[in-house]
Amino acid sequence: MLLAQLTDTHIIEPGVEHDHLLDNTERLAAAVDRLCAETLSPDAVLATGDLTDHGTEAAMKILVDLLEPLEAPVLAIPGNHDVRETFAACFDLPWASPTNLSWSVDVGEVRVIGLDTLIPGSHGGRFDDERRAWLEDALDDAAGRRTVLAMHHPPFLSGIGWMDEMSLEGRDAFAEVVADRPHLDRILCGHLHRPMTTTIGGVTTTTGIATAQHIELDLAPGAPVGIICDPGGYQLHHLHDGRWVTHNRYIETGAEVVRPSWATEG
Ligand SMILES: [Fe+2]
Ligand SMILES: [Fe+2]
Repeated sequence: MLLAQLTDTHIIEPGVEHDHLLDNTERLAAAVDRLCAETLSPDAVLATGDLTDHGTEAAMKILVDLLEPLEAPVLAIPGNHDVRETFAACFDLPWASPTNLSWSVDVGEVRVIGLDTLIPGSHGGRFDDERRAWLEDALDDAAGRRTVLAMHHPPFLSGIGWMDEMSLEGRDAFAEVVADRPHLDRILCGHLHRPMTTTIGGVTTTTGIATAQHIELDLAPGAPVGIICDPGGYQLHHLHDGRWVTHNRYIETGAEVVRPSWATEG
C-alpha cells in the first residue's frame, strides 16, 4: 500500500498578478512527472489543499489537466486558498455536504478520511462542533480498519510564528477526538509549506512538501515573514512491514541515480 501526498500546489492561471517566486505550474508538472515514474505506483494520491491560489475555475481547470497523467485516484481536500464551489466541481468524491467537503474512501485495506477545515475568507482553519460530530462518526465507522486522516490545516502550532497566526481553531477538541481512536494510524496535513512531524493524541502527524515555494525555517519568536525556494516534491507514505514509513521525494536535486561500483562489482 502506497499513498502519495501532493500539497500546496497553488496553481495560478496566466495573466493573474501574484507574488509567488516560482512557476507553480512547472513545479507541479515536474512532481507529477516524477510521481508517474516511481517504480512502485501509488494506490492513491492525496492532495491536501491550497491546490490553487484563488480557487478560480480557470486555475482549477489547469490543476485538473496537470493531475491528469496520474493513474491512481486523486483524493483531494480544500485549503484556505481554494473555493469549495469550484473545488467540488472538479473532483468526484463523496462530499459530506456542499459546505463540508469532507469524505471517507477505502483504498484497499485502508480507510482514508479527508477533513475539510476551510473557513471561507480566512487563512486559518476551523475544527468546530459540526466538524467534530462528522469526524467522530467517520472514525467510528472505520473502527477496526487501518485509518489515515488527511486535512489541510495542521492541528498543531509549528513554532514559525507568522504561520501559526493562521492555524487551526479547535486544536484541543481535535486532539481529544483522535486520542480515543487507536485505529487511526496517521494524520497527513498541508498548509505549512515545509515537512514537519509531531504527535497529536498519540497519532503521528506530518505536513507534506509543497510543490510551491516554501516557508523559511526560522523558529525565533517574532521572526519576520520569510519565503525560501527549497526544492519542491511530494511524500510517499508506504505501509510496509506493518507500519507506515514516510519518504520525501525532492525534485530538482540535480542528481541521477548512481549505481556505485562497490554495489555492482563482484
Ligand atoms: Fe499553501
Ligand atoms: Fe494553506
